[in-house]
Amino acid sequence: MKFPEEFAPLAGRSHLQVLAQTDSTNNRVKDLADAGAPSGAAVIADRQTAGRGRLGRSFSSPAGVGLYLSYLLRPTLPEDRLMTVPALAAVAGTRAVRRAAGLDCGIKWPNDLVCAGRKVSGILTELVPTQSGPAVVIGIGINVHEQTFSPDAAQVAGYLDAWTDRPVSRGELAKALLEELDGLETLDGLREYRAACLTLGRTVRLLRPDGTQQAEALDIDRDYGLIVRYGDGREETVRSGEVSVRGLYGYIE
Ligand code: BTN
Repeated sequence: MKFPEEFAPLAGRSHLQVLAQTDSTNNRVKDLADAGAPSGAAVIADRQTAGRGRLGRSFSSPAGVGLYLSYLLRPTLPEDRLMTVPALAAVAGTRAVRRAAGLDCGIKWPNDLVCAGRKVSGILTELVPTQSGPAVVIGIGINVHEQTFSPDAAQVAGYLDAWTDRPVSRGELAKALLEELDGLETLDGLREYRAACLTLGRTVRLLRPDGTQQAEALDIDRDYGLIVRYGDGREETVRSGEVSVRGLYGYIE
């Protein structure tokens, strides 16, 4: 189905913009935050010309094949719980994919969604100061329809339609995702996150500015940090950065 008909299931949702193209939907939602838009305001684009990923990376966002959605959260959570939002967004993402595509996906810490060993979604959350206090922009990109990935991405990436009998509707997926995000702050996500987390129980490589370190991933703490144990028995909780998981994507040895 062509843009914008595929997004018809979203008719009636207030404070939602569906655009043919923008640089980054996160940028549009930051503008909305500055302009005083309410919690739940959202922007979807069929294509992003400058989609952004975590850790300063770009996020390829071609037309017609992905869901690129950003959501404004004006949190009621206490400020010291805001660090849980990226993980809760991942739980919301797994729920939406299950509802709209009938697929179970796992979470690679901190918040990549993975189906059948392939990354299908990434999440970039950004904290923005506004006149009425801190707001959180939750940006989610999901590969939905068949697409050609760059040679690098082709090693790790997949798209939802690869595992479904019929094409997943980006509109139905967006609708489910917005509903899940609307409930994000009341989600008691820790149990669900742990159950979905593909990183736990595996050997991981922590990519640090001064090199890589190998460890075992033991558990997720109540702030969604990753508790790891090094070869010398020392334990640490990792709160940010890049972690590659042995047996997932390219890390095999
Ligand atoms: C990652 O995998 O590193 C995170 C990717 C996040 C991409 C989404 S697409 C919608 C929103 N707009 C952006 O520019 N980025 C996020």
